Amino acid sequence: MERTIVGIDVGTTKICTLVGEIGENDSLRVTGVGVVPSRGLRKGVITDVEEAAAAIAESVQKAERVAGHTITRAYVGVGGSHISSQNNRGMVAIGKGDRPVDHDDIDRAMEAALAVPVPHNRRIIHSIAREFVLDGQDGVRNPIGLLGFRLEVEAHIVTGAVTSIQNLVRCVEMSQIEVAALVLQPLASADAVLTDEEKDLGVALVDIGGGTTDLALYSHGSIWETQVYAVGGNHLTNDIAVGLRAPMATAEDIKIRYATALPETVDAREMIEVTTFGDEALSTISRRQLAQIVACRTEEMFELIAKEIQRSGFEGLLPAGVVVTGGTAGLSDLKELAADTLQLPVRVGMPRRLRGLVETISSPAYATSVGLLLWGAREELRQSASPIPGGSRAWYTSLLEWLKVFIPRG
Ligand SMILES: Nc1ncnc2c1ncn2[C@@H]1O[C@H](COP(=O)(O)OP(=O)(O)OP(=O)(O)O)[C@@H](O)[C@H]1O
Ligand SMILES: [Mg+2]
Repeated sequence: MERTIVGIDVGTTKICTLVGEIGENDSLRVTGVGVVPSRGLRKGVITDVEEAAAAIAESVQKAERVAGHTITRAYVGVGGSHISSQNNRGMVAIGKGDRPVDHDDIDRAMEAALAVPVPHNRRIIHSIAREFVLDGQDGVRNPIGLLGFRLEVEAHIVTGAVTSIQNLVRCVEMSQIEVAALVLQPLASADAVLTDEEKDLGVALVDIGGGTTDLALYSHGSIWETQVYAVGGNHLTNDIAVGLRAPMATAEDIKIRYATALPETVDAREMIEVTTFGDEALSTISRRQLAQIVACRTEEMFELIAKEIQRSGFEGLLPAGVVVTGGTAGLSDLKELAADTLQLPVRVGMPRRLRGLVETISSPAYATSVGLLLWGAREELRQSASPIPGGSRAWYTSLLEWLKVFIPRG
């Protein structure tokens, strides 16, 4: 029997609803796509409920028409600079070393790790077990079935502002859609573009969207750090608009058509024509000047990333380098500038692991949307296989990630 999964990525630039069906052999096929320009959002956060709800409804209706059925439940991406994350350790006694660790022990250890003060205006979105330590032995990925006296868990805890989260949930519910779970956007993007080997070795996922840049650092197969910055591709457009005194729509158009992140690759004599404010006729500007404007801001974004890698102690611990995704990953020569600034290998991350209507979504801009479907599929498979009553706990999801719930690759 086929099971339907829906993901809704509420981005600053676009809203994308994807419908997928889990078929035989747990394969995932995209059967509905609904993409509309975003409204009512700034820097990843809803600032106008009516506008945002209307745009979400349009995206959902589009996807429903393609899929041929009504959507009632969805996995929804959450982002914005209100997101913050921290790591904490929880410890519990197992007994006298005469019985194996069971699910209850993991639950108790996670509860201990979650005993961190969370202000009343913030809510936990994810609590993910990154690693277990059993009787001082670290690097244990799955302690279930092992004998031990003392179990410790290293948890990654992601929180967000209650009001921003409530506004997002309300906007989705206004389309008569139940929110199955909120998923942090960079975690969803990582699911869509990173390989297990990269996560094992150590890798940084950077999703540069329109209003935000997300960072997720992985090591030993698990998430280690997450950050959301309120800067993205729209800032590049804005810098071009200011620098060339051109309307935003013109600036966006020339960014996509002519911008590059490496000014030195552009012939200084190459000129482009744009309509600037106050001019009746077209003005001519140098393409190198355009590239300089864009390179300056893009470099600044990667410097932010470099600082965070350094701050979190990941310098020298990212052999798999950096995977850049999100719409701005389409900027020409961005990969080269990133590699230069970060002094790490860089590749552009395209969403993988899907079948069906993949033509529109085979672009870095859809990494989060595809990741939401994959996340949802894994969660649904886990719930149907889970022997644990009430087992919808987020840390269990990551445990199962290690146990590899099977979504076909490639
Ligand atoms: N070829 C391209 N070159 C440069 N920039 C591009 C290109 N294609 C798309 N972009 C930029 O990507 C951005 C949109 O990316 P994306 O669709 O990932 O954003 P979003 O998910 O809506 O926003 P966010 O995640 O920040 O809330 C826009 O700023 C757009 O101008
Ligand atoms: Mg996005």
